[in-house]
Amino acid sequence: MPQRVFIKDLKDHKDREVTIKGWMFNKRGSGKIFFLQLRDGSGVTQGIVFKNDVSEEVFALAEALTMESSVIITGLVTAHPKQEDTYELQIRDIEVVQMVDEEYPISKKEHGTSFLLDNRHLWLRSSKQIIIQRVRNTIINSIYKYLNNNGFIKIDSPIFTPNACEGTTELFEVEYFDEGSAYLSQSGQLYLEAAIFGVGRCFDFGPVFRAEKSKTRRHLTEFWMMDAEAAFVEHEENMEIQEDLIIYVVEEVLKRNLRDLKTLERDIEPLKKIKKPFIRMTHKEAVDKLRKMGSDITHDMDLGGDDETILTKEFDKPIFIEKYPAEVKAFYMKRDPKDENLSLCADLLAPEGYGEIIGGSEREADYETLLKRIKEHELPIEPFNWYLDLRKYGSVPHSGFGIGLERLTGWICGRKHIRETIPFPRTIKRLTP
Ligand code: 4AD
Ligand code: MG
Repeated sequence: MPQRVFIKDLKDHKDREVTIKGWMFNKRGSGKIFFLQLRDGSGVTQGIVFKNDVSEEVFALAEALTMESSVIITGLVTAHPKQEDTYELQIRDIEVVQMVDEEYPISKKEHGTSFLLDNRHLWLRSSKQIIIQRVRNTIINSIYKYLNNNGFIKIDSPIFTPNACEGTTELFEVEYFDEGSAYLSQSGQLYLEAAIFGVGRCFDFGPVFRAEKSKTRRHLTEFWMMDAEAAFVEHEENMEIQEDLIIYVVEEVLKRNLRDLKTLERDIEPLKKIKKPFIRMTHKEAVDKLRKMGSDITHDMDLGGDDETILTKEFDKPIFIEKYPAEVKAFYMKRDPKDENLSLCADLLAPEGYGEIIGGSEREADYETLLKRIKEHELPIEPFNWYLDLRKYGSVPHSGFGIGLERLTGWICGRKHIRETIPFPRTIKRLTP
């Protein structure tokens, strides 16, 4: 058998005979010629079977081949006569690994989203879904690369935790032997705050869980978060790190997945405009602006999804909304020294109507103040004793932020609903497949 190659590398094997291993996802033709659409995970190509070029058995196999059958194909690599940078296979031999004998449930016709989600285990093979996962992979890798190059090391935070990070109403509770209840992590932030005293700057990247009753295109009950935390970084610098990180990620995707974005029909012009500086406005300014635009939001309220949508359609760059009223934000946020009612925080909203992709803040570093906040939020003190300890032994100003991977991927891929950006979405009403 000739050398086995990946479809993405066909360009390096022009005019040579090679073997590929994969699946047939579509077929046209009849009579004397068949065009097989082939996929191997690295890419797609077209295999051409001429009746005159192959044995009768091979031609009969091509004729019989059904959608999603797995195959080992040998053929001559040729340049596509019309499309630049596209290579095809003039098929010589076909070996069937498994012939599918049932009709493949996902056909070319339009399916409803709920049907596709029920068949997510198969839907993941569809070309756009493969691409979304590829872009997601670039985003993950570029986040690692950026952070590692900028002095952040990866610290893995636990998933079973004794305490809430982001509010007690959204906790998944599980029984934990004789210890009573444990909660699935909502964010590794508090643990990273402990780690910075050793390593200075760090990040985690893993699944987090929110028993949130929100049924919106932006919410999952299980999603992937990257939390970053840095010692001696204050509010301003925290935003600058986020700005540089997002710019880097977008550049990497534009470099590595340009063709993918085109296949997704993602307009790349808005992505090319993601440059420094991002827009900064305070929560107060945002509310004033939103009220002028017809929203009934008031100054003591968090921004709603609709508010974020209309605001981010106004600008072609991401927007930092700073200094929310402390009342709507988490207990650990440091207050603005200029106005104690505000938190030294910022949410980063992605443009084109996408909304919040990052939540971050400077952290309260003073023991007594933090203790007061925990009490004000009516949280139990005991599970936070270790967290309070951090303010006793060499406390320093520090800040951090958390990126929602699915929201970031959704924006960059231009997908309306974030459930398409995670391989197996978990929402209030979905646990299968
Ligand atoms: O804004 P959040 O709740 O912030 C935190 O959890 C902080 N502890 C992070 C930190 O400072 N280290 O969540 C961070 C991000 C949001 O901006 C959003 O992108 C995403 O996580 N997110 C969700 N994504 C999908 N489904 C949900 N239910 C989400 N909730 C938050
Ligand atoms: Mg948030």
